[in-house]
Amino acid sequence: MCGIVGYVGPRQVLPILLSGLSKLEYRGYDSAGVALLSDDRIKIFKKKGKIVNLITSLQDKDIRSTLGIGHTRWATHGGVSDSNAHPHTDCSGKIVLVHNGIFENYYEVKAELATLGHKFQSETDTEVLAHLIEHEYQKVVPLGLAPTLAHFEQAFRAALRQVEGGYSIVCFSQDHPEAILAGRMHNPLIIGIGQGENLVASDVPAILPYTKEVYNLQSGEVATIKSNSVKVTDLEGHAISFQTRTITWNAEQAEKGGYPHFLIKEIHETPNVLRQVLSGRIIDHHVEGATLGLDGLDLRKIRKVTLLGCGSAAYACLYGKYLFERWGRVTAEMFYGSEFRYHEPVIDGETLVIAVSQSGETADTLASIHKAKESHPARLVGIVNAHGSSMTREVDRICHLQAGPEISVASTKAFSSMITTLALMALYFAQTNNPGLAMQGFLDELSALPETLEKTLQLEDQIAQLSTFYIHKQSAYYIGRDVNYPCALEGTQKLKELSYIHAEAYPAGELKHGPNAVIHAGFPIVCLVPQGRVYKKMLSNIQEMRAREAHILAIAQAGDTQIAKHADHVIYQPASSEEISVMVSTLVMQLFAYYVTLYKGFSIDQPEGIQKVYPMPGHITSVPKSIDIDKPRNLAKSVTVE
Ligand code: G6P
Repeated sequence: MCGIVGYVGPRQVLPILLSGLSKLEYRGYDSAGVALLSDDRIKIFKKKGKIVNLITSLQDKDIRSTLGIGHTRWATHGGVSDSNAHPHTDCSGKIVLVHNGIFENYYEVKAELATLGHKFQSETDTEVLAHLIEHEYQKVVPLGLAPTLAHFEQAFRAALRQVEGGYSIVCFSQDHPEAILAGRMHNPLIIGIGQGENLVASDVPAILPYTKEVYNLQSGEVATIKSNSVKVTDLEGHAISFQTRTITWNAEQAEKGGYPHFLIKEIHETPNVLRQVLSGRIIDHHVEGATLGLDGLDLRKIRKVTLLGCGSAAYACLYGKYLFERWGRVTAEMFYGSEFRYHEPVIDGETLVIAVSQSGETADTLASIHKAKESHPARLVGIVNAHGSSMTREVDRICHLQAGPEISVASTKAFSSMITTLALMALYFAQTNNPGLAMQGFLDELSALPETLEKTLQLEDQIAQLSTFYIHKQSAYYIGRDVNYPCALEGTQKLKELSYIHAEAYPAGELKHGPNAVIHAGFPIVCLVPQGRVYKKMLSNIQEMRAREAHILAIAQAGDTQIAKHADHVIYQPASSEEISVMVSTLVMQLFAYYVTLYKGFSIDQPEGIQKVYPMPGHITSVPKSIDIDKPRNLAKSVTVE
């Protein structure tokens, strides 16, 4: 994540940067910093911790400046410290920048620049880019001539052409005090076009007090932002004409990125989250263990993996169990944190314990970590989203979920990160334990997952339309087999948490052992039917339920020519292996639960006018009052009590 803001114009810049950063704090709060041009020199102020620390440290300072940039950090490369906080500069201190994203090849570039004499002050990938721009700048300015802004732009583009990974960058140079340069690859960056002033930021709330005219810089574009003009080019310097759009949201809506709820905003963030999760972890046909918290472990000596979590994290653990056993060929078990703490676990020197938590503060998960430690000083890996949380202090090794702040109580993007991370870990085990596994196909599918999920999001209109059919249902079953059973569990979790409709998940073959008794005409059953080993078995199960007049909603795959005959409704998601289909179906079920809830809410609010109030995605201008989608009743985002 990370939040960026920049301003050039006639106003005093410091308050603009600080208030902009406060609005972007949801994107990270490990440290914050600003760089301003004052008396023709760059002045940098940065502080570890939340933005309030930076604000407090600047309270007595009178810094006059009308151009500056700021950053709030969600640490990825380098620990949380003042020195790793942005902005970062080159050797001369004349080029300064802030960055959101991961500069994947920074290590090689850093080594090369170091041999040329560059000295680095931080452990970040970001600082390397400042030095790379400096290096390119020295190359393009002809000897004896004064450097121009065009030289600086040329150096900026040349450096960005060498960057691998996703980024948004905002940068300026003391030599060219009239302009801010900005560049984007994947990570968001928005330019705010004002009257005699211009802004740039990661998200609209930071610029909304000054202008409603914006341009979303596109991937591969760079911009030169002056107080009276904005120029956009590609990375080669070819001019690009651009169209601004007018923001119609108010401030509260803007924090939700124009979406009616944080939940749907966070669902839409999933492809980019997975880009971060996958970044640097699949290299040359293998999984890198370093940032997964598994490097240096002798996997041959691990006989059992114990996975611990609560709620959605527990379902992610169950999915992990299936894959650790199938791919990683190691015995695996899943425990709910609330159960494990009272269990008599068999943990020894050959057990690897993996605790999974979005917040890192769930009391039951923390207690189960203590229990594991009591049993044996086992190797403990924490898969966690919140940096600096209690869990990060309790475990030996940390693997970050990199989902950014998740505000909606019901987990979406963090859950998707959990299952993707666990799949990577299982493949990492396979490299040692299961050399016969045809891994490449899974690696390719994982690498393509962000794009696959972007395609899946295109089903949103269809899913929204379909969901209207389910808003008056009292109860539902979700069924899947094998890896799709944990996926079904998470599907019911979303439907229950959001819509308050009762739902239960079963392995499809289990229905006949009891749950079938509940089925009656019109009873909804959501069936996860990807192509694969159990596809035909699933069709048989579906037929059994149809014989009892159940209503079948099948989540199947594009290209499936049989399923329509067996189901009342079908959602065709992009095709993938059974194992990876879980990430795709998860997104489909999240959208389904969201729209069932939204329309159910509208129908409760306006029982008479329901026909008129089914706004489709993109046309939702108000939200129902009766159901609070982001804060469901009786639940909390982080349960810090037993
Ligand atoms: C709460 C939330 C759930 C979440 C669970 C575990 O109950 O309502 O959505 O899955 O805690 O949270 P964690 O932060 O440990 O992942």
